[in-house]
Amino acid sequence: MSDRNVILIGFMGTGKTSVGESLAEALGYAFADTDDLIEKKAGKKVSRIFGEDGEEAFRGVESEVVGDLAQLKRTVVSAGGGAPIRPENRAAMRHAGVVIALKASPEEIYQRVKHENHRPLLSSGDLRSQIRKLLDSRKGIYDDADYIIDTTALTVDEVVDKCIDLLARDTRCDL
Ligand code: S3P
Repeated sequence: MSDRNVILIGFMGTGKTSVGESLAEALGYAFADTDDLIEKKAGKKVSRIFGEDGEEAFRGVESEVVGDLAQLKRTVVSAGGGAPIRPENRAAMRHAGVVIALKASPEEIYQRVKHENHRPLLSSGDLRSQIRKLLDSRKGIYDDADYIIDTTALTVDEVVDKCIDLLARDTRCDL
């Protein structure tokens, strides 16, 4: 059995955490979320890091956490939406495991996040235009993946099934 990790990347609201938790359970893998690892390392919530120290400080801790992912084994990782912004993080994630990018249309992302309020980058201004602006500024960063799944019209279980299909056919995984 391969020890290879599975790293889920994608914009906020594409389902990385819900898919990641179910996928980990289905594979009998551990589950990790880079935001949780960042909060542990910084000793405070993501929103407080953004508010008190700023986004660049958050990205610094995020890069440290992403750099450590290669030490994990048999873990499904949900990477924060901005984790692939830095090219060195994209390389570190490729090195740490099989990378699956989850995508969704801007409107679907809006529908999924509109009732949540824990994301500092989506907490001010008009939510729809904020999502479009961020997606525009991040063009291409989620394409650096082994596989890309459009989750717009899929349930969490359907995305999990697709991930398992892809991983079962991936010679690096040996599921
Ligand atoms: C961010 C996404 C968040 C979290 C932080 C910044 C981003 O994670 O890391 O609020 O820059 O896209 P999720 O994608 O899990 O919401």
